[in-house]
Formats: sequence, C-alpha cells, structure tokens
Amino acid sequence: MSDLMTATAETPADPVEVLSPDLIADPFAGYARMRERAPILTGTMMGGPPMWLVTRYADVRRVLTDPRFLNNPASVPGGPDVRTTIMKRLNIPSDLVDYLADKIVEVDGADHRRLRKLVSRAFTARRVSALRPRVEEITAALLDRLAEAARDGAPVELMESFCYPLPITVICELVGIDEADRPRWHEWAGMLSAPLAHVESLPTVFRECVDHVLDLIARRRAEPRDDLVTALVQAQEDDGDRLSDREMVTLVFTLVISGHETTTSLLGNSVLALLGHPDQLALLRADPSRWPQAVQELTRLGPVQFGQPRYPSEEVELGGVTIPAGAPVIPLLLAANTDPRQFDDPERLDVGRETARAESHLGFGQGLHYCLGAVLARQEAEVALHALFTRFPDLSLAVGREQIPWTMRPGFTRVDRLPLRLV
Ligand code: HEM
Repeated sequence: MSDLMTATAETPADPVEVLSPDLIADPFAGYARMRERAPILTGTMMGGPPMWLVTRYADVRRVLTDPRFLNNPASVPGGPDVRTTIMKRLNIPSDLVDYLADKIVEVDGADHRRLRKLVSRAFTARRVSALRPRVEEITAALLDRLAEAARDGAPVELMESFCYPLPITVICELVGIDEADRPRWHEWAGMLSAPLAHVESLPTVFRECVDHVLDLIARRRAEPRDDLVTALVQAQEDDGDRLSDREMVTLVFTLVISGHETTTSLLGNSVLALLGHPDQLALLRADPSRWPQAVQELTRLGPVQFGQPRYPSEEVELGGVTIPAGAPVIPLLLAANTDPRQFDDPERLDVGRETARAESHLGFGQGLHYCLGAVLARQEAEVALHALFTRFPDLSLAVGREQIPWTMRPGFTRVDRLPLRLV
C-alpha cells in the first residue's frame, strides 16, 4: 500500500475489493456508493496488490484516452513486474507466459499499432456487414433447435443453447477454428476467464491452448484457407508487417476468448434486462429500427465492469489525487456508465436515449484500445435479440428473477443460467 499512500490528497483507508459479492449482487448500488465516496479510491482484486480505482465518467474517459496512461507496466521505468506476480500466483511456467502475455490490450506504442493494423482488417465495418447473412443463418438454426427442445412446453436454458453458441461459432468461423475443436475452446475459455478459480489446472490448460494454436498455424501455412489465421500467416510473410509465431498465438487466443465471452454475457444480460422492462421491449417491437440503439444502451449497462489496468508513465493528477508513475489504475467502466454527471437517470434502461449521449458510453472502452470487435459484437446482438424476441413473442422466465444465478469474471458479470419458457 505504500506506493498508493504517497498520494497528496486524502484517500479512504479501506481498499475496496472489486470482485466482492456485494458488487456481483448489486453492481449499480455498489458503484454508486464508490462514485459518491470519492472520484478515486484505493482497491484490490481478490486481495492482490493495491491499485487505484477511478469511479467517475470524466476521469475514466481520461484514463482511457490520455497517452500518459499505458497498458503495459513494463513500458514505465520502474513499473511493477506484473508478469512475474501473475506467473507466480497462477503457477505458470515462464515459457508459456511469453506466449500468453503481451495481449494486444496489454501492449503500447509501435507494437500496439502494428498488431492493431494487422488484425483490424478483419473487423472493418464492411467486412463485418458481409458476415451479417451468416450471423442470421446461425441464429435461425439455433432458434429452430430451441423451438424443437421446447416442443412439449419444457423450459430451455438460454445461455448454453443460444447465448454461448452464436458468438463462439461466429468468431471461430472468422478466425478459422474447426468445428470439432470448439467445445475445447469453451472449456478453456471458462477456465481462463476465471483463472484464480482454476489455478491447479492452468499450466496444463495453457500448454494445450498454445500447442493447439501452433498446430493450427502450421496447418494453415501448409494449406491456406479463407480465414483470419491464414491472413495472418500471409501477413507474416510480408516484410512490412512482421508477426512472430508467439504473437500470432497470443492474438488468436485473445480474439477467440474475447470474441465470445463478452458477447455471450451481453446477450444473456440483455434478454434478462428486456424481460424485466416490457415497456422497452414494446418500443422495440413497435419499431425494430431501434435495435442498434438498444444494443448500445444494453452495453452501457453491462456486462463489462472494468477495463484493463493502466500505468501512468509519469506522476499524474487525477480526481484531486496525485497518482505516482507506474501505479496500477483501474478504469471502472460500469461506474462511469452509470454516472449521473454524464447520463440522466443513469440506471434506467432507456432504448430511446438521445443517440449521441447513449453512444458516449464506455462499455467498449475508448481511445487506442477501443474494442476491436465492437462492430461485430453489436451486429451479433442486434440480429440475435431481434430474432429471439420476434420468433418467441411470449418468452418469459421459467423461474423467479431472484433465482437467476450470476457469475463474476474479472472485469465483467453475467447471468450464469437463464431458464426460459418460449411459449
Ligand atoms: C459485447 C461484447 C464486447 C464487449 C462489451 C467488449 C468490451 C471491450 C472493452 C471494454 C475493451 C477495452 C478494454 C480496455 O481498454 O481496457 C475491449 C477491447 C478489445 N476487444 Fe472487446 N468487447 C466485446 C466483444 C468483442 C469481440 C466480439 C471481439 C473480437 C472479435 C473483441 C475483441 C477485443 C480486442 C482484441 C480488444 C483489445 C483492443 C486493443 O487493445 O487494441 N471484443 N473490448
């Protein structure tokens, strides 16, 4: 705690646990309390090293856009050795850490620009629109299966049967992961997005993932296909854009994991939210052209709770506090997205919210690390939610709302299981 306490302003003594059960149970209330307590608080994650928590919209936005806040602590002279801490906490051998560290969201400067340029070709608005018919087709097939499963009026579990398979299928097709391998990714993603709960199996899981992606790269190099791995292999051979095998493994791994876990969460949370707001659902039914705006609004209110830690390259004044160079700073995205200083009646789901204001949310981040998959994720959510509520107009919860279990992953929360009646 000593680093943090070198701050000039008075800060509350008790560090806030950002993965506390209170925040899972009622994130809006928890973040409102934090936001009103102070713009900057001290916190910790599962009792780990201390960090600064940024609670208000304007300050969070500044952390995401001010070039002095870096994503890789190693870019800051004297910055914390996060890599070694994580390696020790998770018991991961160093050769594997090299493959899985330096994810695109954890690199800065020229390396970030190079990675982003290479991979963003696959995620332009034009390429994503071209995928729309395929997203519609996958959605329709999943809805057919749901209807079949509910033929006798039996309830269905929406997370496993719809919210998970749609995004994983889309991202795997885009990246080039074969259908037979997708269940393994489901298992890996579950463990890797909650690493502290799976410390025992992590070294084996990491090894399997790395070997799997190295093998995929070798296969696409030998036999090119129309997918992202092939495109990256080809870019690797182009002198201008060198990409090592290690970087490719990290990139593929990041895209597949971040390409479905968050979207799955957005879908599940959104279905639950809309079922609890029949007036908003009625507006969407009356005017389906509101769906894109509704998806922005649903993203504003979750699933993402906070972004990647940032590390100031020099001492920075923020929210009345002087943050020392290299100290970890967590942008609390959901606290910012529910800040009444930015949004009127901020905790209310309002699909008709004024567009510019609604789109100013930070649910996809902001600045250089703005979500690479935002256009894809929004498209998937628009297609999926619209189709689901159109096909099953009488959709309802099969259990009481208070019985719906929630899961908290570091950085986001989601409905864990969602039993529904379709008719
Ligand atoms: C609803 C779905 C999604 C949400 C809410 C979401 C949210 C976010 C957020 C908040 C960030 C910024 C993190 C930070 O700056 O600390 C981010 C970055 C990122 N997202 Fe997403 N994401 C979603 C879907 C996707 C999809 C579908 C993909 C991939 C196809 C993806 C790939 C990425 C990547 C690669 C980055 C890092 C970009 C960079 O560092 O330059 N995301 N996402």
